[in-house]
Amino acid sequence: MSVAHGIKKLGVIGAGQMGLGIAYVAAVKAKVPVLLYDRSKDQVSKGLALMDKLLDKDVKKGKIESAEAAKEARERIVVLGEEEGIKGFRDVDMCVEAASENFSLKAKLFASMAAELRPDAILASNTSSISITKIAAAAVPQGLNPSSEEGKASASRVVGLHFFNPVPVMPLVELISGLQTSSGTLDRARAFAVACGKEVTTSKDVPGFVSNALLMPFLNEAIMCLEKGVATRDDIDKTLRLGMGHPMGPLTLADFIGLDTCLAIQRTLYEGTGDSKYRPSVLLERMVDAGWLGKKSGKGFYDYT
Ligand code: CAA
Repeated sequence: MSVAHGIKKLGVIGAGQMGLGIAYVAAVKAKVPVLLYDRSKDQVSKGLALMDKLLDKDVKKGKIESAEAAKEARERIVVLGEEEGIKGFRDVDMCVEAASENFSLKAKLFASMAAELRPDAILASNTSSISITKIAAAAVPQGLNPSSEEGKASASRVVGLHFFNPVPVMPLVELISGLQTSSGTLDRARAFAVACGKEVTTSKDVPGFVSNALLMPFLNEAIMCLEKGVATRDDIDKTLRLGMGHPMGPLTLADFIGLDTCLAIQRTLYEGTGDSKYRPSVLLERMVDAGWLGKKSGKGFYDYT
């Protein structure tokens, strides 16, 4: 029996490549009103410009039935003012956090979401690797016993809803349950991902889940190959593209995901498992130190100027 997601209004935190994509599929596919919040005005204007381009392209390609439908989708997305912040999400049925891959930032956001949103609203994280159980614990108000009825209820509405980049194109969402997540939260989050046009796989709450426990060691090996001089950048990418049919070579993909994000995920895998096979390459560390974050910063393994 299919479950109704019951999401009449969605909140999205973060207007970067992931948050923007999530707002896009929610407005275009699930057709729900979206409140979008990012503390950076610059990020919001860049995001909205990309949104308009995508809507335009999808009308031309016939993926959206008409310019009118695209206009309606665009109007479903409302940007929250800086002064309103997370308080502006008070009437949403679900909020998806798509901020940077940093636990202390997410912990603060989930504490605020738990305080400001309705008690029945779902709190989802688009984290690529951080424990949903840990994030859910941050949603229990300070001073409240996590095993009390109120404490359990607060954490039970937290779930991992991991989209893939570019969100409008990649057909998958990985669904992750923390120890505290209720079955009702999981069912509604799954139904919402389906309404956004996605297929859903489930993963246990282990570092990196299924997706990044497999992808990140692969990207890291490619970076180590470059570091050791096994092959040139172009040959590493070409080998995987032409030899294995990957749509992008691993160094291009790392640039595309963001080298800071790759490093943050690799550190979570390494620290979370203690297994040296996940140790990030020194070259990746140095590139992030240099501020070379891939496509979004204009330089990574490739130049994007
Ligand atoms: N946003 C929205 N749409 C985009 C886009 C973007 N940033 N980039 C490309 N697209 C769209 C294009 O507009 C195009 O759409 P149409 O078919 O409607 O024209 C479609 O994607 C194909 O694009 P292109 O023809 O320009 O280029 P391509 O054929 O090389 O495809 C790609 C681009 C879809 C990104 C493809 O290279 C690909 O699949 N790459 C691998 C992506 C991947 O592995 N993503 C997962 C990363 S891991 C992750 O996200 C999670 C994590 O936790 C780290």
